Amino acid sequence: RQVSLIGAPTDIGAGSRGASMGPEALRVAQILPVLESHGLEVIDRGNLTGPSNPWQPPVDGYRHLAEVVEWNRVVHEAVFAELQLGRLPILLGGDHCLGVGSISAVARHCREAGKLRVLWLDAHADFNTSALTPSGNIHGMPVACLCGHGPKELVEMGGHVPAISPKWVRQIGIRSVDPGEKRFVHEMGLEVFDMRYIDEMGMRHAMELALATLDANTHLHVSFDVDFLDPEIAPGVGTTIPGGPTYREAQLCMEMIADTGRLASLDVMELNPALDVRNKTAVLAVDLIESLFGKSTLMRVQR
Ligand code: ARG
Ligand code: MN
Ligand code: MN
Ligand code: MN
Repeated sequence: RQVSLIGAPTDIGAGSRGASMGPEALRVAQILPVLESHGLEVIDRGNLTGPSNPWQPPVDGYRHLAEVVEWNRVVHEAVFAELQLGRLPILLGGDHCLGVGSISAVARHCREAGKLRVLWLDAHADFNTSALTPSGNIHGMPVACLCGHGPKELVEMGGHVPAISPKWVRQIGIRSVDPGEKRFVHEMGLEVFDMRYIDEMGMRHAMELALATLDANTHLHVSFDVDFLDPEIAPGVGTTIPGGPTYREAQLCMEMIADTGRLASLDVMELNPALDVRNKTAVLAVDLIESLFGKSTLMRVQR
């Protein structure tokens, strides 16, 4: 497979600064040679450019809306271009507001090419609106925007409203949802495998259901917010929430995705080197991405 790395060095939608350094931290953690070691042909497209972070308070429930829109436009075009070339884009974030640009591009590509399934690996549902958000930070809103709820410029990004149906989304690892956001998630019928579910049923069962009913032409997109992981193993994120997946649970999650053979695009978001310890969260993220692309142990379970 031909893979393209796209850096999006911004923290424009976040509540703390530093995710803008994420792309370089992933490169320092050897993401390119590690992927090559699995037989992938990798091109690093370098970093996109966009507006700097003016660090202003929210206006009408949105912080930095104009800048968020501009960054998402740039991301959308870059991701779409790679997909049209038949390549597998890996977006190196950057904060999770960029999921709008990335996934709207994937949805636009899939309008001709077939079905789409989005796996949202995150501590958060990212399903806020300007009326529901406690922070105004747009990284808490991308899933709602993609499903048609949000500012016009973001909702219409892919040229088709809504960009995706909530039915195409599976959220995994969720453990922090704001009160109004919780009601809205239920109302829209998102399928959520939260930490309570994973505790009781296990990661294996959660992933079996999240990956059920994929077929040969389903495009599988993974949006990996690094705060999905337990903060004990992944401290380098802006919004740590205790009680996330362990190292092995996260590995199993990635391995089961790899086994489907359907992975066709990936976001690696919210890594914040300013809060990390000797780049260990970046190294862990690269280790997990390696599993996502088929690193396997010697023994494979026959299913
Ligand atoms: N729910 C909170 C908010 O809306 C936190 C969102 C965190 N999102 C993220 N992508 N890290 O502000
Ligand atoms: Mn394709
Ligand atoms: Mn998150
Ligand atoms: Mn997120």
